[in-house]
Amino acid sequence: MEPKLYRPPPEVRGMTSLDKEAFTQTITVPALRVPTGVLNKVVKSLRKATIQRPGVPRVVQDKEQSNDFRLVLLDPRRVSSPSSFSEAEAESLRSFGVSEELHYYELQLTYDNLKSEEVLEAVLPPDLDVTSAFSRVGHIAHMNLRDHQLPYKNLIGQVIMDKNPGVTCVVNKTNIIDSTYRNFRMEVLAGEEDMVAKVKENGVTYEFDFSRVYWNPRLSTEHQRVVQLVKRGDTVFDVFAGVGPFAIPAARLGANVLANDLNPESYRWLQHNCKLNKVESKVRVFNLDGRAFIRGPLKQELPALLKGTSGVHMVMNLPALALDFLDAFRGLLHQEPPCDENLPTVHCYGFSKDDNPDTDVVGRASRSLGFPLENRCSVHFVRNVAPNKDMLCVRFTLPKEVLFGKPTEEPAPKRQKCEETKNAT
Ligand SMILES: C[S@@+](CC[C@H](N)C(=O)[O-])C[C@H]1O[C@@H](n2cnc3c(N)ncnc32)[C@H](O)[C@@H]1O
Repeated sequence: MEPKLYRPPPEVRGMTSLDKEAFTQTITVPALRVPTGVLNKVVKSLRKATIQRPGVPRVVQDKEQSNDFRLVLLDPRRVSSPSSFSEAEAESLRSFGVSEELHYYELQLTYDNLKSEEVLEAVLPPDLDVTSAFSRVGHIAHMNLRDHQLPYKNLIGQVIMDKNPGVTCVVNKTNIIDSTYRNFRMEVLAGEEDMVAKVKENGVTYEFDFSRVYWNPRLSTEHQRVVQLVKRGDTVFDVFAGVGPFAIPAARLGANVLANDLNPESYRWLQHNCKLNKVESKVRVFNLDGRAFIRGPLKQELPALLKGTSGVHMVMNLPALALDFLDAFRGLLHQEPPCDENLPTVHCYGFSKDDNPDTDVVGRASRSLGFPLENRCSVHFVRNVAPNKDMLCVRFTLPKEVLFGKPTEEPAPKRQKCEETKNAT
């Protein structure tokens, strides 16, 4: 028998509003008549040949309703005749005294027994890409639908919600991520419009309004990689902190953190997450432009830290722009410390579309700093964000020639509203 037996009825093609009943169909599947005494053993030894559908039983009563026998339902794509059984399967059937003779069973398949891809493949135009891919942010499934899928967007949303337990809201991204605050504009496709998500990343809980701040579930490994470099007693300056996925784990490890974000909503949720994770005494939160943060709170704290022995980290995760912000470190301080052993470590992110992304980001960082970083930094590939577009992290010790060098010519940006949270009580 052919795989097409598994396809929903052709009438569902083109459906834009979900009618679950229309997916119900009866299909004929092969079965073996098995004595109840050896049922479990037979099902176990035939596990590659039995039917595997969500919500479909593998064992049913036979027609005669005999208590001594049951029917074991087989996958029609795998078994079409007794010769379809492998040598090992045939041998075990013989050893259990089960006949290889095939019986046939009328099986009712409903919408509930279909996978999301099968429903969508049956509904959307043939030969066009069907995607049921989404990112999960708490109870929210976040999709990025293509133009040809848009006429079916509400049906797609409903199917994703039905087939993924715990998803109660499905959204589609309606613009590319080019806003200042790196959040998406989004449209609710299905479910209740509740954008306040609760997620757990690397054992830390975060809450935020997903429609108003930046959150990317694909960065959890990167957050962990950087946080692991931080030690108890270190100081971390998180220039583009978002809702806290570097700042809060670092504070939980015992670092002192100054975390900043220009988006007032991120700033608010960052404060909230500090409290939620009971690290408000370890994190000072700012709502400034990145340059103002570097030239303000960071500059104020740095001289004392350079004289100490604890590590100092600067995290700059705004890949579209962070490399350009490095010029804010030029000539930041005036009086050189006695030695350069405790200079800060910078973790600065950048996107690159270059054929040689490592060289590209190091070159751009060097130009922005006015200092050659070649052979003085390491580059870590974070992820491929789009065809020919990579995200990388350049790590380097901030050179004293930059910190104590000539400041950039450009005027300092206007001071923005500075709302430092006096979290330490
Ligand atoms: C790519 S997100 C990273 C957030 C967080 N560090 C993370 O890993 O999830 C960049 C953040 O920078 C903030 N941002 C954008 N422009 C900024 C600026 N000029 N100064 C400070 N923060 C800025 C955005 O609001 C956003 O939260």
